[in-house]
Amino acid sequence: MAILVTGGTGYIGSHTVIELLNNGEEIVIVDNLVNSKKTNLDRIKKITNKMPKFYKVDILNEKELEKVFKENKIDKVIHFAGLKAVGESVKKPLLYYQNNVTGTITLLKVMEKYNCKNIVFSSSATVYGTKTIECKEEMGRGETTNPYGTAKAIVEKILEDIYKSDNTWNIAILRYFNPIGAHESGLIGEEPNGIPNNLMPYIQKVAAKELPELSVFGNDYDTIDGTGVRDYIHVVDLAKGHVKAIEKLNNSNGGIYTYNLGTGNGYSVLQIIKAFEKVNGIQIPYKIVERRPGDLAKYYANVSKAREELGWVATKNIEDMCKDTWRYVQNELNGK
Ligand code: NAD
Ligand code: UFG
Repeated sequence: MAILVTGGTGYIGSHTVIELLNNGEEIVIVDNLVNSKKTNLDRIKKITNKMPKFYKVDILNEKELEKVFKENKIDKVIHFAGLKAVGESVKKPLLYYQNNVTGTITLLKVMEKYNCKNIVFSSSATVYGTKTIECKEEMGRGETTNPYGTAKAIVEKILEDIYKSDNTWNIAILRYFNPIGAHESGLIGEEPNGIPNNLMPYIQKVAAKELPELSVFGNDYDTIDGTGVRDYIHVVDLAKGHVKAIEKLNNSNGGIYTYNLGTGNGYSVLQIIKAFEKVNGIQIPYKIVERRPGDLAKYYANVSKAREELGWVATKNIEDMCKDTWRYVQNELNGK
């Protein structure tokens, strides 16, 4: 039996595929390559010695998706496919609801038709809204502030309703905090298109001298040094969380489980800059600018549920995240 990984050539998907292949799983990837490159498959092969089966398919295309289910014995799905730029989602809400909500509904319909009722869904800490500093699963969802976040909350609700209607479904909702870093081989990492919105991709471009300086969005928050605090998690730790989630589904006859995947520690923007500079011996020029609208001062994960129920904890620290990111960027610059 195979695991279908939607969005499997993307940033988190490709790291997860590596961990799954290393764990002996058979993998089928579906991705429309809207935000990733097919060459990631060769890199996955280089790291694992295994080539996952790949279909260039849009999850909105029900017929094509059905073909994938017809041609393979799929009993579980890890669903990463989606658009993820928060700012773009504000400008193009219909695109985001269509791709991220309708795309998921299409996938779920096909899964149901082929009697595949095991799914791991990529959710986000954004579903907590403005509710909290230390986010706990049992607090439930808060008020989302952009279509990207609302789409995540809607999909979580859809999954809950599906489980209510048929409790033979086995569903793991994983709420990621801030994934950064790259595979330690330096072969796979995050490759943002254009000018990045997120902190680490921006630091990468400044470090590579593709952008002159980082803008730090506000230094007057009620935090350790006035800059925003987030729970950054190494993408390989995050990927390993998915292997644990699959194990959880394997041992369950039906259920819906929601887990935070973070480290439980918050770091400020300035702490990240300093760590990156220190471990890599490189300067990151920055200037303090206005706060970015919609940003929260500080939030991080409570990770006890994932630790207790999945037996999963993040093991990599901020230094690992900064070192691995820079190794990947250097390899890319050297045309590896
Ligand atoms: P990514 O853009 O690198 O990967 C997503 C992949 O999905 C891409 O390869 C893209 O080509 C593919 N895709 C998009 N729409 C598709 C469609 N309609 N059909 C088929 N393929 C499609 O992003 P990522 O950072 O790896 O994120 C993976 C998932 O995790 C997303 O659902 C994202 O919302 C979620 N997430 C990401 C973060 C983060 O900070 N990176 C945080 C929380 C949640
Ligand atoms: N920041 C800067 N300068 C930049 C970019 C970011 O100072 O150029 C700051 C932000 O103000 C924030 C911190 O760095 O304090 C992290 O910002 P990111 O944009 O990297 O991440 P966010 O926490 O804003 O958002 C991320 C994902 C969203 C997801 C959210 C959920 O990008 O997809 O986490 O927690 F919804």
